[in-house]
Parts: sequence; C-alpha cells; structure tokens
Amino acid sequence: MADTATLRARNADFWARTAPGWIHQADRHDEIGRPLGAAALDWLRPQPGERVLDVGCGCGGTTAEIARAVAPEGSAIGLDLAEAMVAKARDRFTGPGGGGPRFVAGDIETLDTVPGAPFDAVYSRMTLMLLADPVAGLTAVRRSMRAGARLAATTFRDGRVNPWLPAAMLGAAAHLGPLPPLPIGDEPGPFAFADATRVTDLFTAAGFTTINIQAYDVVLDAPDDPEAVTEWLIEIGPAGAAYRDAELTTQGYARAGAARLLERFRTAGTGYRLPAGLWLITAHSGGTSTP
Ligand SMILES: C[S@@+](CC[C@H](N)C(=O)[O-])C[C@H]1O[C@@H](n2cnc3c(N)ncnc32)[C@H](O)[C@@H]1O
Repeated sequence: MADTATLRARNADFWARTAPGWIHQADRHDEIGRPLGAAALDWLRPQPGERVLDVGCGCGGTTAEIARAVAPEGSAIGLDLAEAMVAKARDRFTGPGGGGPRFVAGDIETLDTVPGAPFDAVYSRMTLMLLADPVAGLTAVRRSMRAGARLAATTFRDGRVNPWLPAAMLGAAAHLGPLPPLPIGDEPGPFAFADATRVTDLFTAAGFTTINIQAYDVVLDAPDDPEAVTEWLIEIGPAGAAYRDAELTTQGYARAGAARLLERFRTAGTGYRLPAGLWLITAHSGGTSTP
C-alpha cells in the first residue's frame, strides 16, 4: 500500500481532474444518484434550526436538500476537496446576499475543525471510503461535532454488489488515454470500505461511539438514453478525465464500449436499473467535541 502522502496527493489530483465531469453531470447526478444517500438522510432527519455538515459535498445537491430541512434558522455547510466543485455548488445554490447553504473548499484530513463547527449532525454520501488517512479525516469530522452529535454516511460495499460501477470504466478505458492508478487492497477507492469490521475499527479509532453499520441495497433508475447514461457514468468515474481530454470521435467509441457492458442493466424502452450495494454507517461523536 502506498504511503499516506502519496495517497493524499493522488486523491487531490484525481478530484481536480475529475471535477469538470462532475460539474457537467451535476443535475443528472442529483436526480439519478438520490437513492445513494436517502437512507442516511432518513436516519439523520435534520431538524429546523440545526447546524449540519455535508462531508465531500461534490456539486452541492445534498447540502442544498439539508439546508431546506434546517431552514430558516439552521445552517448547512458543504465541504469538498475539489475547489471547482465547490465553486459550482456556490453557483447552483447560494442565494443573493449569501442565503442558503454555505460551501467550503478543503481536505477534511488536514483541517483541525471544519469552519462553522460545532455541528449538530454530519452527513456524508459516497466519500469516506476515498480518504487517504481515514482515521485523520474521521477524527477531524468528530472534532467538528458538538458532544453527542450524530453522523450518518453511506459508502459502497464491494464490487460484487455494484457491478455497473467498473463496467463503465472497463468499457470506455480501451479507447482512452492512461487512467489514474487503480486502488490496491485498502487503498482509498470506491470499495475501500468493503470490510465492515475495518470500518468499525476506523470509526472507533477516530473516537466515535454507538457505531452501527448496516447493509442495504438500492436501485438507481436511469432513463433509456444510452448516450447520456454512459456519458454520466464515464464522467463521474476514473476514466472521466481521459474521456474529457479525448476527441469527439474517440468519446463516441468510449461511450459505445461502456454501453455494451452496461446493456445487461438496460431494458429497451424502459431504461437502466443499476443495483447498488451500500453501507449505512451511523455513529455519535461521543461525550466531548474536543480531542
Ligand atoms: C464520489 S464523490 C461524492 C460527491 C457527493 N457526496 C455525491 O454523493 O454526489 C466524492 C467527493 O468527495 C470529495 N473528497 C474526496 N476526498 C476528500 C477529502 N479528503 N476531503 C474533502 N472532500 C473529499 C471529492 O472531491 C468528491 O467531490
């Protein structure tokens, strides 16, 4: 396994290079990707007046949803490593005069506490398994919570229960330039939290209490539009940067390659059904909000 500094630099580079694809797909991802975090939002139930942090908020769709739940007195803050995605989130959701959710650019692993702390609740969708040093990142999250605050996060389980995720990359990659390094073992990546015991150990080491990890399955419903659906899946994945660098003809080959592998999830005339196997991770900050 590579050392933490290498993994952290790799993560920062990955998200800087992949951000344009996420920005391009922001509206589509908000719509199709909603089931990926719905169980965490249901568990968290943000209340009016609460102060909530969204870790790894991407282009801000989930932070905006939380902001609506805690309005008018509460606040929602989205934190993300990718400055371009934070800028896009502000464009999409920050109202005139600064109303609505707030967005902060930063690496959760290197912050002492997140600006706006202490938080009553923390939400995170599909991000925590990407941390180069998960204990450092989770400790910063926990330090940013008030005593007894609650956390709900979702991550992928493993590749066997998320077969569509590698399919888009594998179908596209043969047509594109070099991809970023693929994770090995426990290195950060979509399936780095596959082992629930490891996840419990990481949260325990970061000082969380009442840790609960529950498997649940959802289906992402996408329209019967192979061009759009394959482009969405390529652009938000490891082949996204190489795809955006490619010429239009090559992009077409990449989409066709991905579409062939995704065909088994498609019913012509109806659309795609992408099965996703997730963890719902819930925990509390424990008795103190300082380390
Ligand atoms: C898979 S995306 C999920 C985005 C969003 N939560 C969603 O579900 O649509 C992961 C996000 O986590 C961010 N991220 C990765 N590592 C991070 C870190 N160390 N600190 C803060 N954000 C990070 C990335 O920039 C990216 O936007």
